[in-house]
Amino acid sequence: MGGIPHDSYEPKSAPEKWIESRLPILGLMHATLTIPTPKNLNWMWIWGIVLVFCLVMQIITGIVLVMHYTPDTTLAFASIEHIMRNVNGGWAIRYIHMNGASLFFFAVYMHIFRGLYYGSYKAPREITWIIGMLIYLLMMGTAFMGYVLPWGQMSFWGATVITGLFGAIPGIGEAIQTWLLGGPAVDNATLTRFFSLHYLMPFLILGLVIVHVWAFHTTGNNNPTGVEVRRTSKKDAEADTLPFWPYFVIKDLFALVLILVVFFAIVGFMPNYLGHPDNYIEANALATPAHIVPEWYFLPFYAILRAFTGDVWIVMFTSFVTGGIIDAKFFGVLAMFGAIAVMALAPWLDTSSVRSGRYRPQFKIWFWLLCFDFVFLTWLGAQVPDDTLLKIEMATWSLIATTYWFAYFLVILPLLGVLEKPLEAPATIEEDFDAAHPIEAGDGRGPAASPAE
Ligand code: HEM
Repeated sequence: MGGIPHDSYEPKSAPEKWIESRLPILGLMHATLTIPTPKNLNWMWIWGIVLVFCLVMQIITGIVLVMHYTPDTTLAFASIEHIMRNVNGGWAIRYIHMNGASLFFFAVYMHIFRGLYYGSYKAPREITWIIGMLIYLLMMGTAFMGYVLPWGQMSFWGATVITGLFGAIPGIGEAIQTWLLGGPAVDNATLTRFFSLHYLMPFLILGLVIVHVWAFHTTGNNNPTGVEVRRTSKKDAEADTLPFWPYFVIKDLFALVLILVVFFAIVGFMPNYLGHPDNYIEANALATPAHIVPEWYFLPFYAILRAFTGDVWIVMFTSFVTGGIIDAKFFGVLAMFGAIAVMALAPWLDTSSVRSGRYRPQFKIWFWLLCFDFVFLTWLGAQVPDDTLLKIEMATWSLIATTYWFAYFLVILPLLGVLEKPLEAPATIEEDFDAAHPIEAGDGRGPAASPAE
């Protein structure tokens, strides 16, 4: 293993021994950094590190922004302009934070769909998956509240629309809405509590990320074959893995640098491309913008929310059965949260005995259709059809795309496990790795290696 054995930590110098005998933190750090990692991980396993980077970047830039930002409706908008124009490097800090949220969501979607394809959610990684879903929900809450802080038109009206959704909950909705807003409408009390929570939630995410990492360090990483690392002997386990440091750290950092080249090109050359121009107009409770559109990362779920209008038969039926308690608006809210809930339940809905999608020919087709469906929903969420005919067409497509999302998790995943005939997966990770990288004389892996190596 090139002089990097999968060994345990032994403190050597006197200061190391002093610390380790009082708090075994160096051993813990060593174990975390050198954890045996399946050696066949592909480029889809880089997103976790990108996510950690995003979280740290958002916390650091956020803390600097707070030094100059004022959470008061009379000053918030002006304080953002102050950051952009007067604070040294303020524009850069703000644009990094703004676009950092987009990179964060892009990475989390890649990370989630990677998990869906390679069956990373399946036993024994259910807790890793559920913690991930909690992180995702918190990310959504954090991004939503952050978007309100600049106190532009989209901030104000976005907050009005989204908190209005909670008002759709029968009976207690209005009370919840008032409680969230701190009053009858979006105002100073809303801004100050959103500011407080926007500052708090990234640290909750950080706590959950630590538990997330703890959970998959307990089970070990999944890998593209879905075959587990052999625990039959130390030799077998070592043949399937490589230490995280330096192999995967270098690989992940290389990918991160490439991603950051694109990221900083966006920050430098087109920082407002993903934003909405209306948010450069100060919030005005008396002027509703022509179209209220959320940030791109919310669009798929926004499309699901909008898919259920009063003339959809299932909405009419549910409304009739519940005596009007579940109306179109509440149905939309339930569907939106339901879309995330069914994804969270994937570990129990997927009945296949084979973990990785690589060996599931039919699953692959449905999975790629799900990816297309997600992109299509994003596009649908962004549409603001003005004429009635287009509106009807959009509503129909939104319904079809939403139906597919639910069908994938609730019908296709459970049925495929029973009906599909999977291909044979390799017996070990080592076998998969050696097939992809045949042993060559002198590469230090096979018997062909010369003794000098
Ligand atoms: C702040 C957000 C998150 C961070 C920092 C994070 C971090 C990580 C890291 C470092 C890994 C190791 C493998 C890799 O690099 O891909 C990982 C694995 C995993 N994550 Fe996340 N994650 C986050 C959010 C999520 C979300 C939203 C989900 C989906 C529900 C999720 C599900 C998983 C699963 C199932 C694995 C195990 C995959 C494997 O075994 O390699 N994570 N995560």
